[in-house]
Amino acid sequence: MKILDTERLTLRELTAEDADFMLKLLNEPSFLRFIGDRGVRTVDDARRYLLEGPISSYQRFGFGLYLVELKGAPVPIGICGLIKRDALDDVDIGFAFLPAFWSKGYAFESAAAVLRYASDVIGLNRIVAIVSPDNEPSISVLTKLGLQFERFITWPEDGSQLKLYAIGD
Ligand SMILES: CC(C)(COP(=O)(O)OP(=O)(O)OC[C@H]1O[C@@H](n2cnc3c(N)ncnc32)[C@H](O)[C@@H]1OP(=O)(O)O)[C@@H](O)C(=O)NCCC(=O)NCCS
Repeated sequence: MKILDTERLTLRELTAEDADFMLKLLNEPSFLRFIGDRGVRTVDDARRYLLEGPISSYQRFGFGLYLVELKGAPVPIGICGLIKRDALDDVDIGFAFLPAFWSKGYAFESAAAVLRYASDVIGLNRIVAIVSPDNEPSISVLTKLGLQFERFITWPEDGSQLKLYAIGD
């Protein structure tokens, strides 16, 4: 199901058919370093990840991570969307793109549209983001989107120190 269009991009719900793309994205060195190792090593693992992650989130919360494609050509380039985690009270925005599509403003363009969607369609006033303190590209996207640094948090899953950014109240 299509969620939204931007000038250059289309965001749609992920399906189990996107397993090949997710396998690639989840094993990018940048994803492993800055987001984490989801333990997805095969297409079957990726299918399970999609079912238990984004697809289950659509059913449970009415939102989730979406596939970002170039408009007009169904070329998947990354993911961007909204996540409700047990460890956080607020909904957070997340994004990750294949390196071939970095530095073209796609992360900013898709995340800006997701923030508007979160407020206008889902009715969320406050959106947060959690980011590793050395993830300069992501921090740059977040601040450009208008999110502001609030505090450091200790991530319960691995004890790491993360920065919490937020917009709205
Ligand atoms: C974070 C990520 C999505 C950014 O993608 P991107 O394509 O570079 O983003 P955009 O092109 O939309 O915007 C990047 C902004 O960051 C800046 N930037 C890019 N690389 C940078 C770097 N190494 N250091 C500082 N700023 C950087 C760009 O200059 C641009 O700002 P500008 O528009 O003011 O020039 C991408 O690096 C990625 O997929 N990383 C792996 C996954 C990840 O870390 N996700 C975030 C988890 S919190």
